[in-house]
Amino acid sequence: MNVRDSEAVSALLEAAGYRHAATEDEADLVIVNSCSVREKAEDKALGKLGLLCATKRERPNRIIGLMGCMAQRLGEAVFRRVPKLDFAVGTRRNGAIPSLVKRVENGERNILEQSSPDEIPDAPEAHEDLGFSAFVTILLGCNRRCSYCIVPDVRGREYSRPAREIIAEISALAKHGVREVTLLGQSVMNYGRMNPVWFDDDPPSAGGFKEPFSRLLEAVSAVPGILRVRFTSGHPSGVTDELVRAMSSLPHICHHLHLPVQSGSDRILKSMRRGYTRAMYLEACNKLYTAMPDFVLTTDVIVGYPTETEAEFEETRSLMYEAKFGNAFIFKYSPRPGTPSAAMEDDVTDAEKCRRDEVLLEDQDRRGQALNEQLVGSIQQVLVEGRSLRNAARWSGRSDGNKIVVFEPTPAVREGTIVPVRIVRAAPQTLYGELV
Ligand code: 5AD
Ligand code: SF4
Repeated sequence: MNVRDSEAVSALLEAAGYRHAATEDEADLVIVNSCSVREKAEDKALGKLGLLCATKRERPNRIIGLMGCMAQRLGEAVFRRVPKLDFAVGTRRNGAIPSLVKRVENGERNILEQSSPDEIPDAPEAHEDLGFSAFVTILLGCNRRCSYCIVPDVRGREYSRPAREIIAEISALAKHGVREVTLLGQSVMNYGRMNPVWFDDDPPSAGGFKEPFSRLLEAVSAVPGILRVRFTSGHPSGVTDELVRAMSSLPHICHHLHLPVQSGSDRILKSMRRGYTRAMYLEACNKLYTAMPDFVLTTDVIVGYPTETEAEFEETRSLMYEAKFGNAFIFKYSPRPGTPSAAMEDDVTDAEKCRRDEVLLEDQDRRGQALNEQLVGSIQQVLVEGRSLRNAARWSGRSDGNKIVVFEPTPAVREGTIVPVRIVRAAPQTLYGELV
């Protein structure tokens, strides 16, 4: 989501006449986009801002700004931490950035723009010309309030953008060569639950879909030029029968879902206020695997949540095998100010969090290897991204299930097209193959 926000701000600044610097050193304006989800991310952003502001000694006209969740969370306090910071802008005020930069150019300092939790951003959904894959935000904020999470405080209340605005944005992207879109939201299947997104004069669903999100998938999948549609992140309550039917029957919808589980223990899930049990989560996975045998699930897990015992951690471990995750992001619990779980003692030691983190990473490597080996011999449809980062003689792209596929090129291969690749070798995170 932050990558997408940075891109939008960059495009707005370009529209206002600014140009990209070749390197950070050369830039006269640097804006740090921050994340508040864990303390470490905030510390990194503050460290970076400190270094950037120190360069003002030699370059007094250099402008340094802060955007994103940390600006929203800290407000005025951020100027006590970083006195030379020129501006800080909260999560739904990115559209104001070009005018803030102008005000700094005219001599103002320490400008703060925070947003209210339910304001609707007026920033047009600007994109840069970034190739054939694009992010599109469809839902802002989150109403869920998991016990450990700062996101609802900093990103505000759930608001779904009107469907016709989203479809117009994606149609414009497709005309500029975009072939793959990833629809973004904190709990993306909640699309259209809190505010109307479809209107009486919108065309009805051809497939008879009634849920706002399934209707959106149908409409996006029908945009000429779009070959792949992904969305993130999911919540098991959103895995309805209708969504499963939409994902399995509509063309272009990838058989991949990022479905954060956080824990495999019912007691911890309850304390986290996740709104599901282990059994409910696995039921959602089974529905997807049954309807789409090639389905790939990925996840987020938190280790060392307050009071998490060794046995409860082992339940997370076993769930990860049962759910057959293709990839997983593991996070060490970090208390966030003002969240309900911050009132609990952070009683799992850092050493123990590190150990649990490593155990899950090793498990994931083994599981990834085993799952990928099952794909050896199969033909994967690969969206070609370009030359492989590790070996420029090879090309790389992503499969429908979002796995990286590396293959030998032929002169006919072009970026942004989908090609069939037969898999000959597997690694935990990567598939290797040859063009068919
Ligand atoms: N501590 C550690 N990880 C967290 N996440 C969210 N809040 C916290 C926290 N306080 C993780 C969750 C979420 C991902 C984006 O970040 O796993 O899915
Ligand atoms: Fe945070 Fe939970 Fe909302 Fe995800 S669903 S953003 S973890 S409150």
